[in-house]
Amino acid sequence: MAVTAVVGCQWGDEGKGKVVDILSARADVVARYQGGPNAGHTVVVAGDQTILHQIPSGILHDRTVCCLGNGVVIDPHTFFQEMEELTDRGISVKNRLWISPQAHVIMPYHRAIDEASEAAAGNRKIGTTGRGIGPAYTDKYNRTGMRVADLLAPDFEERFHRAIEAKNRILVELYKASPLDERLVLEEFLRFREQLKPFAKDVSVVIYDAIRNKKNVILEGAQGTLLDIDHGTYPYVTSSNPTAGMAATGTGIGPRHIDQVLGVFKAYTTRVGNGPFPTEIMGDLQTSFREWGGEYGATTGRSRRCGWLDLVIAKYAARINSLDGWIITKLDVLSHLDEIKVCTSYKYKGQIIEHFPSESWILKAVEPVYVTVKGWSKDISGIREYGQLPVNCRNYLDYITEFTGVKINMVSVGPDRDAVIQFR
Ligand code: IMP
Repeated sequence: MAVTAVVGCQWGDEGKGKVVDILSARADVVARYQGGPNAGHTVVVAGDQTILHQIPSGILHDRTVCCLGNGVVIDPHTFFQEMEELTDRGISVKNRLWISPQAHVIMPYHRAIDEASEAAAGNRKIGTTGRGIGPAYTDKYNRTGMRVADLLAPDFEERFHRAIEAKNRILVELYKASPLDERLVLEEFLRFREQLKPFAKDVSVVIYDAIRNKKNVILEGAQGTLLDIDHGTYPYVTSSNPTAGMAATGTGIGPRHIDQVLGVFKAYTTRVGNGPFPTEIMGDLQTSFREWGGEYGATTGRSRRCGWLDLVIAKYAARINSLDGWIITKLDVLSHLDEIKVCTSYKYKGQIIEHFPSESWILKAVEPVYVTVKGWSKDISGIREYGQLPVNCRNYLDYITEFTGVKINMVSVGPDRDAVIQFR
């Protein structure tokens, strides 16, 4: 397995949590490279569900070391809450969970500004998760952020005072919102500072040593390719790079150390939040999809918008991430349908577009061009061998491979850890 990057290839929620959990059974180290508690990675073991927002899904295997890389933004509130939940389930994180000192911290003012700026944007809002992600990354790139290292530094209180004073002015003067209580927030962060100390470690060194010792490493992406700040449907994106290039930068390893990139792709398409979505289904069928697939956000509980499989996106994701293999998830959800539509190109002003366009006004106006394929109308959730799948189901999978030129490594046919078909 060596070093494997696992990336989401749609608008997030492709089922990366389950995939990373399965791959982690053979992994020594699992590292998250971007994003923060905006992610919601759901893992089901023997019917028992765990939702992780910040801690890598690999933590459910007790010998796996988990890291949060420098590219991640960390909210100590959620981090310790999640850790407590794991401890309650008898999962110990002691000496196997590390946070890069270079990772940035989501401060309460980041959350407050996220909420206030979304409220002020009215119908132009992005529909963020409200977790402070954008404002935390804004500060990072503005060089005014608070890293884990800064939280632990001797001049933390001074930095903190400067930061909260400036942010309170933004909250009050720009957004007409309430200021944060500096003393209360400081007290809380002085506690977090002590609690975080034992977890701070140079993650780049942890991963580099693992690579030198021929261990298996997984670099776990959050969100998806189309939410990428550079390659996604800007401005309706998150504020980091979920794409494979960030797997190196966000953990502090060189790109040539990555041996393979696996792309997680749902057998249909979903999106949470606002922004263009060419294959979105309207009406009752959208509601049915949502019910069949349980398409509600693991972080915010919001309903997901649902649509047909879009192979223009698949081809784009394969190119942007240099994919070696697909992991197709939620194939069982399509068992309810007699006929399935697959988008193979877009039409814009009478012209066929084969490549995913970067101009938002084009994407908003495109018309999807579909082929209709026969469904299999049969429960496949108990199948564990490719050869046992109904022929129309195999045809569906083969079509994805043929169209994108990327082979399939694994298919998921149900929420549980063992509901997968591995391809050799
Ligand atoms: P933010 O990341 O909270 O700033 O939200 C920006 C956009 O990304 C919004 O449309 C969110 O719904 C979306 N988003 C962020 N994280 C996830 C995720 O883990 N899954 C799906 N959508 C997400």
